[in-house]
Amino acid sequence: MRVIVTNSYEKMSATAARMVAGQLYLKPDSVLGLATGSTPLLMYQNLIRVHKEIGLDFSEVITFNLDEYLGLKREDCNSYHYFMHENFFKYINIKPKNIYIPNGSAEDIEKECKRYDALIEEKGGIDLQVLGIGQNAHIGFNEPDIKFEATTHKVKLDEETVNANARFFKTIDEVPRYAISMGIKTIMHAKKVILLANGENKAEAIQKSIYGGVRPDAPASILQLHQDVTVIVDKAAASLL
Ligand code: GLP
Repeated sequence: MRVIVTNSYEKMSATAARMVAGQLYLKPDSVLGLATGSTPLLMYQNLIRVHKEIGLDFSEVITFNLDEYLGLKREDCNSYHYFMHENFFKYINIKPKNIYIPNGSAEDIEKECKRYDALIEEKGGIDLQVLGIGQNAHIGFNEPDIKFEATTHKVKLDEETVNANARFFKTIDEVPRYAISMGIKTIMHAKKVILLANGENKAEAIQKSIYGGVRPDAPASILQLHQDVTVIVDKAAASLL
């Protein structure tokens, strides 16, 4: 694992954006694994700026998002589908047919999970996976568990995750209790991974994930076994390292 400690959220985001841009420069038809949440927002804004100012090209890029809430329509302002379009896709020249996000309204969720994994494989796997981290060290929506869940699957969200994500909803009752998430194996199959974290509330999760044992009750700790992971954090998230 390579750990880059930056001075601020701004520097963390710029560093991450540079790594994504570098990946696209070397391989313009890269398959990117993308994350939602507040952490990668400024990284997306940096990439949009680089696209507008120096023409970073997304026309051949394929993206797979990590996860989606169950039961929210795509157009719901809290769906990850909506988040990705509003915060990133609508500002770049990515082809709509190259954007993949799990369908949280699918009738048959198990079938949707299998379809998603098959698509990732069909496109040659993920070249660069961007990850945020939950306060309980979840990645995607892989919650602390007694085993690492391998493939894309339906998840029951932890109370802590529901509480953490309630800030985006009018009331806590509106927060979906279930989601679809890429599994740990899918994430571990990515050729490169960057994990982003900022803020003091992520310090414990970062400490556990880097220095704790590899344990399914700290899902991000599995990344210690990956051969090409870069953790990019601000000072506050690095405060327990
Ligand atoms: C959600 C997402 C994760 C994300 C995490 C942290 O649960 N499913 O992919 O990493 O939140 O979110 P934030 O970046 O807002 O702290």
